[in-house]
Amino acid sequence: MTLSAAVTEAAPAKVNLALHVIGQRADGYHLLDSLVVFTDLGDVLHGSVGQGLSLKVIGPEAAGLSGEGNNLVLRAARLMQADNIALTLEKHLPVASGIGGGSSDAAAALRLIARLAGCPMPGDVLTLGADVPVCMAAKPCRMRGIGEDVLAIPQLAPMAMVLVNPRVGVSTPAMFRALERKDNAPLPDHLPVEANFTEFTRWLADQRNDLQAPACAAVPAIATALAALDDAGAALSRMSGSGATCFGLFPDLTAAQGAAGAVARAYPGWWVQATTLL
Ligand code: C5P
Repeated sequence: MTLSAAVTEAAPAKVNLALHVIGQRADGYHLLDSLVVFTDLGDVLHGSVGQGLSLKVIGPEAAGLSGEGNNLVLRAARLMQADNIALTLEKHLPVASGIGGGSSDAAAALRLIARLAGCPMPGDVLTLGADVPVCMAAKPCRMRGIGEDVLAIPQLAPMAMVLVNPRVGVSTPAMFRALERKDNAPLPDHLPVEANFTEFTRWLADQRNDLQAPACAAVPAIATALAALDDAGAALSRMSGSGATCFGLFPDLTAAQGAAGAVARAYPGWWVQATTLL
């Protein structure tokens, strides 16, 4: 009998450095123009050939997924018609928090099953979630359309970030519905990929997350998280996705770790992590 070795795929956190909502399709989905990056921090998916399809969730954020029979990892496995794979998901990212945990887990599952079972990538990964195509790339990208139009961009200036989740849930559809305008300006054509950290953060300050205002109005803890990042010295703070996770940018990991310590001390119940960009 040949035993297949376990394989591992990283499912890094996705951060929308900017998220412009520039239109709406007839089916209700919103047209986006987003600058997306990934971090060292993330979930980890392990898999091996097993009897039937199974998923065990472990790790500090596992409780957030308890009792979810329709987990995105399982949906990804079913999309690939994988029926003999034993998967273990180490959950480090808070569930449904704007940093793509579910989409990144699904993308990791697709990569892992392709490696283990040798099956081709399905063509319709967007059906798993609008962030799944960008999470398949897992490197700096400009994301447009409703998430299907993904363009890899060169590495940005080296930087670190602090991620803060004030432990409140946000409904993504509700935030889109609450938008005052759905025809906001896109990102500038030219992204400053050659800029240093100071120049880059100055450029980014002129961009937006259009979902941030409705999210802060619905969930005041998001505004508190942004203020906490500013107080801790972030060069720029902003919400990712539809929240509630916010990020603060710092020139290096040492600065980010110091700031993360300060925010964690001030808000002991919050999820606070320092990380660098992939
Ligand atoms: O695809 P995903 O699960 O990320 O999207 C969650 C919800 O967010 C969708 O059902 C839709 O209501 C909204 N959405 C949207 N436009 C997008 C992405 C998501 O309106 N581009």
